[in-house]
Amino acid sequence: MKPALSQFGVEMSRLSGVRAIMKDIIETLRAGAGQNFINLSAGNPVILPEVEQLWRDCTFDLLASPDYGDVVCRYGASQGYQPLVDAVVQDFNRRYGLRLTDRNVLITPGSQNLYFLAANAFGGYAANGDLRKIVLPLSPDYTGYGGVTLTPEALIAYKPELDIDEGSHRFKYRPDFSRLTINEHTGCVIFSRPCNPTGNVLTNDEVNKITTLAAAHDVPVLIDSAYAPPYPALNFTEMTPTFGENVLHCMSLSKAGLPGERIGIAIGDADIIGVLEAFQTNLCIHSPRYGQAIAARAIRSGALGEIAVNVIRPFYQQKIAVVEEALNQAMPSDLPWFLHRGEGAIFAWLWLNNLPVTDWEFYQQLKSVGVIVVPGSTFFPGLHDAWDHKQQCLRISLTGTDEELRTAMQRLAEVYVKTMKATQTR
Ligand SMILES: Cc1ncc(COP(=O)(O)O)c(C=O)c1O
Repeated sequence: MKPALSQFGVEMSRLSGVRAIMKDIIETLRAGAGQNFINLSAGNPVILPEVEQLWRDCTFDLLASPDYGDVVCRYGASQGYQPLVDAVVQDFNRRYGLRLTDRNVLITPGSQNLYFLAANAFGGYAANGDLRKIVLPLSPDYTGYGGVTLTPEALIAYKPELDIDEGSHRFKYRPDFSRLTINEHTGCVIFSRPCNPTGNVLTNDEVNKITTLAAAHDVPVLIDSAYAPPYPALNFTEMTPTFGENVLHCMSLSKAGLPGERIGIAIGDADIIGVLEAFQTNLCIHSPRYGQAIAARAIRSGALGEIAVNVIRPFYQQKIAVVEEALNQAMPSDLPWFLHRGEGAIFAWLWLNNLPVTDWEFYQQLKSVGVIVVPGSTFFPGLHDAWDHKQQCLRISLTGTDEELRTAMQRLAEVYVKTMKATQTR
């Protein structure tokens, strides 16, 4: 049967960004069963034994407590499970000297859901017909933003400035404030910090500039903190979360070991939270409560904050060091390759300047030597400018073993040199 789809139906039945690539990767792995692929495409965090144990302990505690029936056998408030909301309020007030109350917190079924609520509550067509833009101030950014709006023409991303260190083969994206436009036609602003895919951490100064531009027009700024402190604390460089009247601090517990439980947390102004809460009630009533109940325990006891800093962060920080060293050794110093500064998150981002083939073709060549990464062009949602750079990057997941990462970087370097030489001799 082929039911007729509405405009929204057409939009939402399309696989966007990395999900489309994942289909190809799953088919490749299936077709090559038995072939030993090094799969560095994953966005799934590694299951670390200490982290798994934490969630197991919290589950035991929940099972043994009189709260169990109330948690899983009852509907609850749309805003979230009250003990989790309270735990977040107390933890953030203590850590950051804030004066949050429970009206400042909303729990969603995963943070992807939160961006969907915000993108459609603040972005899209206003009652007067005005198109309110969803602004991504620094492209590339999280591929999932490409799928969150019911009004795709509302999504607009800005090309960055490139801060390049030729000698060390490193670079960093910076927002181009000469082009960034946030005005009365802006519905909301979204960026990830630390950034998936690049590992970039916008400086406090850059964040303040963006939030100040937005505040002048009462525009909410969603700071996607899926990798930020206090949990999972996947920042390898110093950073402090930013709060403010128009700032929504958006968290995810996925990289803190609970991707399957779907927990997103928004912290911000009570009016903004109220809008999103009502949207959530209409959409799905509330987030599942089992995950919220174990998260409340892990946050209240301080165990989550500690494991983030002592286990999760060092694990990935060591992995980025392995990738850096392997690339430094394997890649030729006379070719224009640049690794983005690894300031956080669980990925390395490699830019192969002047690459004579597209990132998609390069991805295929890497597959033929048993290595799977993600072609970078999927990480520029909303960026309509023609720009070669969009086809010159790769996202490498840090979820491999050290051995896998070294072997993969060695093979990548060989394919790269071969590709570059092939054009020189043409
Ligand atoms: C930057 C960023 N934001 C949001 C998400 C979505 O996370 P969640 O599992 O909370 O929906 C991800 C997932 O990888 C991410 O990398």
